[in-house]
Amino acid sequence: MCGIIGINGIHDASPRLVEGLRRLEYRGYDSAGVATLVNGHIERRRAEGKLSNLDMKLRDQPLSGTVGIGHTRWATHGGPTENNAHPHATKRVAVVHNGIIENYQELKDELTGHGYVFESATDTEVIVHLVTYYLDQQGMTPVQASAAAFKRFTGAFALVLIFAGEHELMIGARHGTPLAVGYGDGEMYLASDAFALAPLTNRICYLEDGDWVEVSRAATIVHDASDAVVDRPVKTTAVSGALIGKDGYRHYMLKEIYEQPQVIGDTLNAYINPETGTFTLPDFPFDLAGASKLTIVACGTAYYAGFVAKYWFETLARIPVEVDIASEFRYREAPLPPGGIALFISQSGETLDTLEALRYCKRQGQKILSIVNAPESTIARESDAVLYTMAGPEIGVASTKAFTTQLTTLACLAVTVGRARGAIDQERMQQIAHALREVPARAADVLAHDERLKELAQEVSEARDVLYLGRGAMYPLALEGALKLKEISYIHAEGYAAGELKHGPIALIDDNVPVIVLVPSDALFEKVVSNVQEVCARSGKVLLLADRKGIDKLKDKVRWSVELPACDPLVAPLLYAIPVQLLAYHTAVLKGTDVDQPRNLAKSVTVE
Ligand code: G6P
Repeated sequence: MCGIIGINGIHDASPRLVEGLRRLEYRGYDSAGVATLVNGHIERRRAEGKLSNLDMKLRDQPLSGTVGIGHTRWATHGGPTENNAHPHATKRVAVVHNGIIENYQELKDELTGHGYVFESATDTEVIVHLVTYYLDQQGMTPVQASAAAFKRFTGAFALVLIFAGEHELMIGARHGTPLAVGYGDGEMYLASDAFALAPLTNRICYLEDGDWVEVSRAATIVHDASDAVVDRPVKTTAVSGALIGKDGYRHYMLKEIYEQPQVIGDTLNAYINPETGTFTLPDFPFDLAGASKLTIVACGTAYYAGFVAKYWFETLARIPVEVDIASEFRYREAPLPPGGIALFISQSGETLDTLEALRYCKRQGQKILSIVNAPESTIARESDAVLYTMAGPEIGVASTKAFTTQLTTLACLAVTVGRARGAIDQERMQQIAHALREVPARAADVLAHDERLKELAQEVSEARDVLYLGRGAMYPLALEGALKLKEISYIHAEGYAAGELKHGPIALIDDNVPVIVLVPSDALFEKVVSNVQEVCARSGKVLLLADRKGIDKLKDKVRWSVELPACDPLVAPLLYAIPVQLLAYHTAVLKGTDVDQPRNLAKSVTVE
């Protein structure tokens, strides 16, 4: 999703803006642009598509200037054209913006009435015309005009403004979506995240919601939503300045799939003592084991991790669990009980719907626990307690290692709560600890099936529709498998609870539709076997993902199979995630899609 950066500096801004944008690429975007002050005038370069197009343009027509802003745009209002690309500008002011100005139409009508002419189809352009209106027609200073304009916008936004003739001024505002201030040596920066600024500085201040900031080369003045001057702490960030490479892999996604044995191991080391095999979760400032209800909320792949965890919390901890996607949950005014705990799962820690769902739960008196991968993220900062996943930076838009480390953390949490509630005994707890500690080695065994999955991807790549089936905790895995395939190969896929097949989706079965069935040896094994028979009886071509028991039972019926290691059913979701990731990956490669940055998708979804 849109990434923004601003530099108020002493050295040439444009190459460093592009470098910052490169570090924001992972968020997903479809056009990019920069603007600088050249002899006091605002000059822009913008380009459709990848950053390399902007880079080329800047090589042909370089931009000088030490004050500038840059943007990677993920289109919301108006197509991904050069004309709609940011920065948007008038003669007096230029802006980069992340988020949506929801009342833009009303403001546009008002400004058109004042004679302003709009050039783009974006919501963003109202920002520069409104500020210009306050400058030109109300005689305000840039600071006054910006403060007045911020009060007129509804919706979520983070933005950075620069002004013609104002070398000592850059203004940033944060309303719902993140913005960080970077403190350099004689320079100041603004950006969507600390990662974009890491080569420039490690001294970062995260603005709070409603804040806006005046930034010169040497100092900042932060204001809160009521314009009062406030102090916000400057922290030393641990975010690395090194650009993350692909280490010889063709794509980040493949590298991240292969990192899973390592990062699952790192996460286990954080939550299980490797010597004693006991769980070592931190003490929470609330009584999780005594919670009356657990409400789990997340988006996308993180939601499916939460959905798996619902099965774990219910069976291991006997705690009532509700799980929902954040965009629905946040608006449905769910009544939440006293003593309830709300659990939020997010790789980025910035997903706007998840964050707003968190704030809703806080207002309802719930204690907030979150599982995030990005330590300095907003969700982490606004939670009562945080468990970090040790996935390291995930660059591929399709989540892989973040998912399995979320599952790892959730498994440790469910077992710990289960034991504290007396729902499982010491022996079962130790069995699970043992099974979990085996996962990195077993995950490496699963990765050894890569070539076989690549062959099968050939068949899948020829399909128009694909079904994924599973029961119990394998049902969310079926949903995740279908999501992975859809998002990177653009093949239509659906995940279904295997038992629900006969209530509709069975009508789709014929020999053109691959049906991928996840069947570990667990309590529901025989039930899924019957569902597989139903598919085979209708000439369905089944790809079986199962251990030896399932393969022995069904190998004569199914078209293809991949044998996965036998394991404690509790850890099966961690292992079965890997073949569905690899299958989606190889299918996407065969289809020739942009695997790491699939069309229309963003990594960090900061609009609702
Ligand atoms: C986007 C990403 C997904 C991710 C989801 C939730 O849709 O493309 O990979 O699962 O957002 O993101 P979060 O950062 O909250 O886990």
